Amino acid sequence: MPNPLENRHIALGVTGSIACYKSVDLASKLTQAGALVDVLMTPEATKFLAPLTFRSITHRPVITDIFAPESELSINHVAVAERADVVIVAPATANTIAKLAHGLADDPVTTTVLATRAPVIVAPAMDANMYENAATQQNVAALQGRGYIIAGPASGRLASGLIGLGRMLETPDLLGCIKVVLGRDGDLANRKVVVSAGGTQEPIDPVRVIANHSTGKMGYALAEAARDRGADVSLVTTPTALEDPYGVNVIKVRTALEMRSALLHQCSNADALIMAAAVADWRPTETADHKLKKGDSDTWSIDLVKNPDILAEISGEGLIKVGFAAESEDLIANAQSKLVSKGLHLIVANNITAPDSGFGTDTNRVTLVDREGRTTELPLLTKYEVGHEILDRVAKVLA
Ligand code: C5P
Repeated sequence: MPNPLENRHIALGVTGSIACYKSVDLASKLTQAGALVDVLMTPEATKFLAPLTFRSITHRPVITDIFAPESELSINHVAVAERADVVIVAPATANTIAKLAHGLADDPVTTTVLATRAPVIVAPAMDANMYENAATQQNVAALQGRGYIIAGPASGRLASGLIGLGRMLETPDLLGCIKVVLGRDGDLANRKVVVSAGGTQEPIDPVRVIANHSTGKMGYALAEAARDRGADVSLVTTPTALEDPYGVNVIKVRTALEMRSALLHQCSNADALIMAAAVADWRPTETADHKLKKGDSDTWSIDLVKNPDILAEISGEGLIKVGFAAESEDLIANAQSKLVSKGLHLIVANNITAPDSGFGTDTNRVTLVDREGRTTELPLLTKYEVGHEILDRVAKVLA
């Protein structure tokens, strides 16, 4: 399942909020990812955006009027609802949420939601006062009680100028939410997967750290891939430039010791631990509590003490452990010996000297080495695809 959106039918209901300009981006990203997007608009939404905008992006008819003779809904008013794998109403105004809560069906969006058996995601967008109004709160709670997924809203600056709760979620989060819903019954459903990501930072003093080149991309891609197969995912990560993935429990740490205690806690009830983080082997014996002075000497040395090997140390009844071996020489032999010494089920060997693999790239060229001694050399893949290759094997062991 390298692309969870490929050929999936997504019904996108757009209602009359200025946040609908963001739905254009959502429709575009969904289409680029291979989804078949049917856009339904309320009459109010067409005042903000021309249907042609969505038609140009999705290359599919846009439905704005249930009774228009040329509209698919005028022939079969539940056609879109029936073929949808997911229905997402984004933005959902207070008015549309109220109609949905009461089962009204007087426009293409509410008709499709009422008629579908697919999961429904509602992404509210409105002024903070309207969102906080007891009527809206009750309506949202009613939808939630019926199993609708309420995505957002986020807090921030609103079109009214107010700062508050009411912003529609951004495209990456809505895409994440759609993938969570599509993956609910995946092969990792009801499994807890813990992933570590990023490079640890070991403080020398309040200003300086010992760090490494890990950007966290591999671990984040793994966390998203596990999420998209239905897993309950905890991502223990160091500071990175990456956005928190939607639907993943993100735990932020800095040092190897902080990572160790977060992972020990998370793994107590986990099915798998995938250790993509680059953990510093050494940390300064002492951290100065003030900035160390340069002094007159031309050299400087710091005493280091060994960090615990987190992956070797953590074990648990039935816990599947996957490690990474970033090597610049003797790749497979080094990976094999780490697999044994750390008690792993699988190790992912990557040659960090290859230009299209390793730190900071979106792609990786890895060899998987398992307990049975099998080595599988994978072609150049995106890190998300590498994540699925790893998870294929984890899911097989768990099954
Ligand atoms: O021994 P080496 O650092 O090459 O092993 C790499 C694997 O072990 C990675 O999965 C890494 O996250 C993990 N590791 C660890 N604790 C350390 C060092 C590495 O868990 N102190």
